Amino acid sequence: MDASQSQELDFEIRASAAPVSAERRAQMLVAPGFGSVFTDHMATVRWTEGAGWHDARIEPYGPITLDPAAAVFHYGQEIFEGLKAYVQADGSIAAFRPQANAARFNRSAARMAMPQLPERLFVRAIELLVAQDRDWVPTADGHSLYLRPFMIATQTGLGVNNPSSSYRFSVIASPVAGYFGGAVRPVTVWLSEDYSRAAPGGTGEAKCGGNYAAAFAGQRQALEHGCEQVVWLDAAQRQWVEEMGGMNLFFVYGAGPSARIVTPVPTGSLLHGMTRDSLLKLGPDLGIPASEERISVAEWQRACAAGDMTEAFACGTAAVITPVGAVRSTGAEWTIGDGGTGPVTTRLREELVGIQYGSRPDRYGWMHPIR
Ligand SMILES: Cc1ncc(COP(=O)(O)O)c(C=O)c1O
Repeated sequence: MDASQSQELDFEIRASAAPVSAERRAQMLVAPGFGSVFTDHMATVRWTEGAGWHDARIEPYGPITLDPAAAVFHYGQEIFEGLKAYVQADGSIAAFRPQANAARFNRSAARMAMPQLPERLFVRAIELLVAQDRDWVPTADGHSLYLRPFMIATQTGLGVNNPSSSYRFSVIASPVAGYFGGAVRPVTVWLSEDYSRAAPGGTGEAKCGGNYAAAFAGQRQALEHGCEQVVWLDAAQRQWVEEMGGMNLFFVYGAGPSARIVTPVPTGSLLHGMTRDSLLKLGPDLGIPASEERISVAEWQRACAAGDMTEAFACGTAAVITPVGAVRSTGAEWTIGDGGTGPVTTRLREELVGIQYGSRPDRYGWMHPIR
């Protein structure tokens, strides 16, 4: 099925008979953490060969029952997305760039031989779920409603030669505080020389669960070396910087009016982040030129030692922008700038967060109102 096809499926709304009380919800929203509190409902749409997408509904949040031989458990045919809805300065609710996530979802689906989901259906599921659970969208400073669309292969059977003939698409929603505890604190990163996240021709550009399963060992190694996050290098030469954990990277060269930002060129093995894409547009509009370039580990170290590189930061939906203060690897260790949060990082963060919460003008049409 073509993703651009404007298939209109009516969602059946099955409201929960036992929603969380307003009082309990208020308690849960005080310190929700990240991804551990969920709203009353979820969206679900099913796909089967021949019938296509059907059975669209908003239903009570709850366990999914699957046959133990369902394909997702054995061959990992699973993709997901991550985006947020925010209470705006005027009290309304808006989601950040859901159409862009819908498009990336379909690129992931194509790579994993899964069916295309009409973008309108993806966005509609989000609109209806957020509208249904609007009381769960947190209003506290820096909090938001994290949305997790995902698709799993549900066909029963252990045959491995063909992709599944049935799938389930769902969206769940989780009120969240800031990712790294909310504070904007520089992280120290570990350069992974033992493990690769993705290889040429692999699935690095897809947002599939397997990429994350393969990344845990590297992240654990980073923690063992006293670092908060792992930075992935290219799999072939182990010298080109790709991305950091679940975030893309930016490097700041120069300072003041001559500052410019650089992010690694997408090579097929790193994720095209929405935040990355947004900053590539926002930077130049703020007078900070932005470019995609190949950055080697040697260049990263050289530019910091020479004072050419003044800041670095990681960006992604969950934490928005996180400064990178220092780099560590088996044979080297260096600080970026003064190791703190630099002015370019702060400026870009404030601007983007301002757009997301509706306190700065959205000149790009990024905010999608939820009615
Ligand atoms: C591996 C990886 N890279 C980068 C990103 C940043 O992408 P986005 O800005 O769309 O959240 C994410 C998060 O989705 C990710 O998981």
